[in-house]
Amino acid sequence: MSILKGKNILLGVTGSIAAYKACEIVRLLTKTGAGVQVMMTHSGTRMIGPATFAALSGRDVLTDLFPKTPKAGLEHIHLAETLDAIIVAPATANIIAKTAHGIADDLLSTTLLACDVPKLFAPAMNFRMWRNEATQSNIAVIKQRGVSIIDPTHGQLASLAVGEGRMAEPQTIVDALQKLLGGKQDYYGKRVLITAGPTREPIDPVRFLSNRSSGKMGYALAAAARERGAEVTLISGPTALEPVAGCDFIAVETAEEMEKQVREKAPDQELIIMAAAVADFRIAHPETQKMKREGSTPILKLEPNPDILRKLRPITDAYLVGFALEMEEGRKNALQKLREKNLDAIFLNYADRAQSGFDKETNEGILFFKDSEKEIPFELQSKNSLAHRILTAIRNEMSGREKRKG
Ligand code: PMT
Repeated sequence: MSILKGKNILLGVTGSIAAYKACEIVRLLTKTGAGVQVMMTHSGTRMIGPATFAALSGRDVLTDLFPKTPKAGLEHIHLAETLDAIIVAPATANIIAKTAHGIADDLLSTTLLACDVPKLFAPAMNFRMWRNEATQSNIAVIKQRGVSIIDPTHGQLASLAVGEGRMAEPQTIVDALQKLLGGKQDYYGKRVLITAGPTREPIDPVRFLSNRSSGKMGYALAAAARERGAEVTLISGPTALEPVAGCDFIAVETAEEMEKQVREKAPDQELIIMAAAVADFRIAHPETQKMKREGSTPILKLEPNPDILRKLRPITDAYLVGFALEMEEGRKNALQKLREKNLDAIFLNYADRAQSGFDKETNEGILFFKDSEKEIPFELQSKNSLAHRILTAIRNEMSGREKRKG
C-alpha cells in the first residue's frame, strides 16, 4: 500500500508551460489513493483550464483568495489544517521568490505561508531564469527552511533553447513525495524485471490457446516495486489491465515472444520475478488461414514451449524468483521447481482455492528461499498488499546475500 493512500495533498499549479504535466501528477496521485486538491495561480489558469484539473481530481479547483461567492471563514486557513503535504509543480521563479520572501498576495502564496506541512517544489522555467543569481539564492533560502526541491532537468525548453529548466517528470515528482513522507524506498534504483499475465498460443489467425491469468498479481508486484523506488520493466501477456505507470512496459503475446524479451532484458537486472502464467504447450503447426467448420474435425498437435525461467540462470546474476501454481502436492512441486529451475526463491500459490490464484483480487501462499531454507506463509489478502509483503521478504533475503558477499 502506498504511503500516500488516504493523504490529502495540495497541488499548486503556477504559470509555466509545464502546467499541462501537472495533469499527470493528479492522475498518479489519485491512483495511489491520495486525495488531491488543486490550487492554481492566475497565470497557471492562463496555461491550462481549471476544468481539466477539476475533472481529474474530482474537486473544485481553488484559484482566488477572495472568491465571488465567499465561503464562511478563511479557506486557506481551513485547508492548512487538513493537508498532509504540498507540491508546487510547476514552480515558477515568481512563486519561488514569493516563498523565499514570505510574500502572500494570492491564494497559493498565502496558503504556502499558512501551512506547516512538508513542501515539494518542482521548478520549471527558462534556463537563464533558473541560473539567475536571484533564483538560485531564493532556492537556497527555501531549501534551508526545509522545502524539498526537485531540480529541473536539461533539455529543450518552451523557447526551443536547450538548457536546464525542464520540470522533472510527473512520476519522479510523485516518487519524491512518497520519499518525503517516509514511504519505503528499499528498492531505490534497483533494476527489477517482472512478467505477468497469460501467453496466447495461436491455433489459427483468429483462435488461440491460453489460460485464466488476469495479470493482477504481476501488475501488483510491478506497482509495488515501482512505488518503492525500483526501475521496473514489466513484460506482460495480453490482459485487460492498464500498464503500470512509471514502468518500462513491454507487451507480448506468445511464450516465444516473452522468452525473447525476458532474455534480452535479464542480463541487466538485479531481481527477476516470473509471475506470468506461461503456456507450457503451443500448437505445433498453427494454420495460416482461419480453420473452417466444413470437412473433417481437426486434431491439434501440441509441442512444448520453452521454459523461460529454467534457462535464465546462466545469463543473469539477478535474484531469481518463480511462482508455482499448484493443485496437489503443492509444497513438493514448488520445492522441486525451486531446485530444477535454479531459483533463489519461489512463491507457491494455488489453482484450486476459491479466493486465490487466477483472476481473483486476493491471493495467499508460501514463499520458499533456497539460501536460508526459510519459508514464509502469507494469509489471504489483496494482491496489492501481498505484493508488498513478498517484496519485503525478498529484499531482506537479497540484503542478507549482499552482506555475505561483502
Ligand atoms: O494473473 P493473475 O490472475 O493475478 O494470477 C496470478 C497467477 C496465479 C498467474 C500467479 O500468481 C502465478 O502463479 N504465476 C505462475 C503460474 C505458472 O505458470 O506456474 P508454473 O508452476 O506452471 O510455473 C512455474 C514458474 O515457471 C513460473 O514462474 C512461470 O512463470 C515459469 N514458467 C512456466 C512455464 C514456462 N514455459 N516458462 C516459464 O518461465
